Formats: sequence, structure tokens, C-alpha cells
Amino acid sequence: MSAQENKTGLPLVHLGITRPEELSALFADLRGRFNADCACALDESSWKQFRDTWLGRKSGVLAQITDNWLKPATPELKRAVGQQLNELRAHVESQIESRRAAIETGTEETARDRVDLSLPGVIRPVGSRHLVRQVFQEIEDIFFSIGFSVVDGPEIETPYYNFEALNIPEFHPVRDDMDTFYLDLPKGAPTPLLLRTHTSPMQIRTMEKQKPPVRVIVPGKVYRRDNPDATHSFAFHQIEGLAVDTDITFCDFTGTIEYFVKQFFGPSVKTRFRPSYFPFTEPSVEFDVSCPFCAGTGTAASGGTCSKCKGAAWIELFGAGMVDPAVYGFVNYDPKKVSGFAFGIGIDRLAMLKYGIDDIQVFFQNDVRFLRQFP
Ligand code: PHE
Repeated sequence: MSAQENKTGLPLVHLGITRPEELSALFADLRGRFNADCACALDESSWKQFRDTWLGRKSGVLAQITDNWLKPATPELKRAVGQQLNELRAHVESQIESRRAAIETGTEETARDRVDLSLPGVIRPVGSRHLVRQVFQEIEDIFFSIGFSVVDGPEIETPYYNFEALNIPEFHPVRDDMDTFYLDLPKGAPTPLLLRTHTSPMQIRTMEKQKPPVRVIVPGKVYRRDNPDATHSFAFHQIEGLAVDTDITFCDFTGTIEYFVKQFFGPSVKTRFRPSYFPFTEPSVEFDVSCPFCAGTGTAASGGTCSKCKGAAWIELFGAGMVDPAVYGFVNYDPKKVSGFAFGIGIDRLAMLKYGIDDIQVFFQNDVRFLRQFP
């Protein structure tokens, strides 16, 4: 027990105090002791002890002062003791209360900040590559394995690259198919610009940049003014292919395509080609694959007509052909020395066939219930 505590246990006369002026030092000492105690009340239990020490009804410091100093005080001291005691009480009560508030909010903060190592942690869902992207990759890998490389091209093109240099002059009727999105440009712009309608402009850009041999594929987005339905979308994906060298034959062409189709759909599928027309290939063909769903029979396993090929046994895959000699004229290749082939694969269509998807729109809606099926 400290000397101070002892003092409040004794009447003032025993402390040798007889005049009011002598009280000040005594109360100042008490206030100092109180402040020191207050600083040590750091949590709820030490605060309770601290409060009882000072405000306890029977033996708290303030109760002792009342009993031992105030009550027996001589008439000349009584008033001064009462006044000093009131001042001390006000200080003690307000400090004890604000200490309580500080501890309470302090505890809350600590709880909030405390790291609970037993909690399971925040699980962030990991996304996956979009199915279209996965199919791009699959096709790129197949062509990598036979010596092709990948190039990228702009989605905003000039009519020259999208049409003219591909042997599609203005007013050529095939442009009708590609009636498309032109950009609003300020008056006086040097050339109109449009969203490319196919990846074929990259045939020209690639041949402008390099001499033969050329073996490239060009994955990318293309745009047409198509009305959306289960098989059409205003934006879709293609992979262009181009091979040009001094000795490329029609056999190299069909052999390459057949290799690709078998790698992609499996070794048991067959390919065939039918005559077709593109201004930038001659001859032009349309490649078909034997229906992978009914093994090219046209009949479903259940006995009915195969719903995928509608009983035709073949499914149309993509357009292709030997590069038209007229195209070489636009890129300063000598048509007498070089030959080559080109193809344009619609990725969405291929992905739909391979993975049994019957609506192209799901590729663009980004519904996670669809995306999660292709992790
Ligand atoms: N660009 C053509 C289309 O989008 C496809 C194609 C590419 C045809 C290359 C022949 C050669 O329809």
C-alpha cells in the first residue's frame, strides 16, 4: 500500500494539516496518482479494478476522503476540503468514463484487425479460356506442327486490302455478301475504312511484307452485317491460311487440308471438296467432312435421320482454293514462278460441330453456365 493510500486512511489532523492552503499539495498528489493509475487501465478487467480503487462505495479513495478527511474536518477546513474533493471527483469520474469508452472501441478495433488463421481463406474463382479461344489454339497447334506460323492483322481495314487487292473490284457482286460496317470518318479522310469482313486481307499484307516461301495462318475476328440467328452473328471468328512457294500443287493443298481435318475431328473422318467460287482463288473449292456424328452414314444411332447433317452424311466445312494468279499481281509476286493455296476456316462453326453446340449466340453471351462447361 502506497503512502498516498495511507494518507486517505487518516484524518487530516494526523497528517498535520490545519490550514486550507495546505490542502492543494495533498490533492495535487492524489490527482497525479490517479492519472498514473488511469494510464495503466488498458483492458476491461484492469479498468474495473481501477474504477473500484477510486470510486468503490466503501473503501474507494474518494469514499475514504469523505469519511476520513471531510467528515471529521475542522470548520475552517471543511469548506475547502469539500471544494477540492468535488473537483477531484469530477476529474476522476470523467476520466474513468472516457477510459472505459477508449477501451471499448479499442477492443472492437482489435477484434476487427485480428487475423484468424483458422478461417478458410478467400477462394477466388479461376476463369478459363473461352471455347472459341481454345479451338483457335487447337487449330494453331495442328498447323504449327506442319511448319505454319501465326500472324495477326488489323480488324479495321481499307477497302483495298479487304476487296480490291483480293481481286474484288468495286461493284463486283460478291461484295453484296459482305455488305458491311464502314466507319464514320471526318470529311477528307484519305481512304474509307471498314471492319474486315474476312481474314483474307492478311494474305495481301503478308505477301507484301515477305518473299516466298510463305506459310502462315491468321486467327482473328471478322464482321458482317448478318442478322443474328442460330448460325449467324455480326461478329465471328476465322483462321485464314496461306501457303505460297515455287512448287506448291493442288495435291499439297488437299493433303494439307485432309491432315488438318483428321487431326481436328479424328482419323476416321473423310474429306471431300466441291467446286466453288471466290474471286481470289482459282480453282476454288468448298471442303466437306464426313459427318462425325453419324460416322458419315446420315443415320443417327437411334435409327432416325442424323440431326447434325440432316441425313446428308457430309457437313460443309470451309472455303479454300489455289491462289488466283491475279492476286500475285497486287503484291509483286511473279505468277509464272509461284503457286499456292489459301483457306478460310470459320471457327465458330467448327467449334459448334465439334462440341455439339446448336446456337452461335452462346459464344457471345458469356453466360457462365455455358462457359463453365468448357474449363
Ligand atoms: N475469305 C473467304 C470467306 O470469308 C474464305 C476463303 C479464304 C476462301 C481463303 C478461299 C480462300 O468466305
